[in-house]
Amino acid sequence: MAKELIRLSDCFVQFDDDIILDHLNLYINDHEFLTLLGPSGCGKTTTLRLIGGFLKPTSGDIFFDGVRINDVPPHKRAVNTVFQKYALFPHLNVFENIAFGLRIPRTDSSGKKKVRLPEEEIRGRVLEMLEIVNLKGFEKRSISSLSGGQQQRVSIARALVNEPKVLLLDEPLGALDLRLRKDMQNELKRIQQQMGITFIYVTHDQEEALAMSDTVVVMDGGKIQQIGTPEDIYNEPKNAFVADFIGESNIIDGIMRADQVVEIFNRRFQCLDKGFQKDEAVDVVIRPEDVDIVPEDQGQLRGTVTSVTFKGMQYDIIVDFYGFKWLIQTTDFCPVGSHIGIKIDPDGFHVMKKSQYSGLFGDYSSYSEEYEEISDVDYDPEAEEDQEGGHEE
Ligand SMILES: Nc1ncnc2c1ncn2[C@@H]1O[C@H](COP(=O)(O)OP(=O)(O)O)[C@@H](O)[C@H]1O
Ligand SMILES: [Mg+2]
Repeated sequence: MAKELIRLSDCFVQFDDDIILDHLNLYINDHEFLTLLGPSGCGKTTTLRLIGGFLKPTSGDIFFDGVRINDVPPHKRAVNTVFQKYALFPHLNVFENIAFGLRIPRTDSSGKKKVRLPEEEIRGRVLEMLEIVNLKGFEKRSISSLSGGQQQRVSIARALVNEPKVLLLDEPLGALDLRLRKDMQNELKRIQQQMGITFIYVTHDQEEALAMSDTVVVMDGGKIQQIGTPEDIYNEPKNAFVADFIGESNIIDGIMRADQVVEIFNRRFQCLDKGFQKDEAVDVVIRPEDVDIVPEDQGQLRGTVTSVTFKGMQYDIIVDFYGFKWLIQTTDFCPVGSHIGIKIDPDGFHVMKKSQYSGLFGDYSSYSEEYEEISDVDYDPEAEEDQEGGHEE
């Protein structure tokens, strides 16, 4: 059974007149890998700082193992933090960087005497950590001789050597290149499972969040938008913000005509969603990979291809349906200008309630122009009229 370890109860944070966290409610289970995901400025780091004890909420409470810890200072919490900037000591070697926290005298169980860990124990624990982060044999190396990825491993080892119950990781892989980041994602997941501790991970990278987490918390504007497993968040986004932030989504105005019947573009489609009011206005998500391309006369909808981008695994095509542009991913090549039909299975629709985010996301009208703009170094917006379609012939 999952056991609750940390709870943020109605946490509100305000700086001057700005609301930074707006009544956050969240619990984190023991041994869980939980990720806070959202755009820059949405309040992820602030949430971590509350848990780490570096910031007190303006109002609301934080509990650890059922005990209120609002007033417990950071070093007395069973929590450690790994930052994007490694903050290693450049003048100490790898061994001493990791051993640093272990060498600080600590009060013994009677609470009266300061004691030091025996050197042998320190050595044993540091070497064990080096093995866990795959840096066996690196103990004498200087920090400056290490790559970025290796430095990050040292900072992870240093945070873990004190055996915290919870590790807070604030965009720890942000400075690494893509390939290394992917390797480190797997490593971190393995370390978390091997050590059996709780990870609270912060990222703005949705792919990273989906790949690593047991639970994803999607945030925007200081508010939690959705909490769920990666599959929940992807397949059942709660609103247009979540649908757009996690993966690619076409988001279309629709009307629920009945349970499992949704209308878009004045046509009715079978879907799996139910429980809406009759004729309720809704947002309908259709993922680019859930659209099948068929001959024009067999399509449920018909459209015209306006741009094609080769992506290796598939083509990303933009298709104009009655003035609204969709992104569709397909392995069939459809040239620009071709007329196609599409079919969508009932489970290809996901119906959401209208929200403050309705109408803001999920239309790919500007996609092709943006794409041309970044791919064309000589791009001149003034001359756009003259060269329209020039790259597509
Ligand atoms: N000490 C502070 N004083 C005033 N505003 C702050 C402070 N720290 C963070 N903020 C603001 O709070 C918002 C959320 O910040 P942060 O939690 O760092 O976001 P994230 O980590 O999601 O990018 C941002 O708008 C930021 O400018
Ligand atoms: Mg941050």
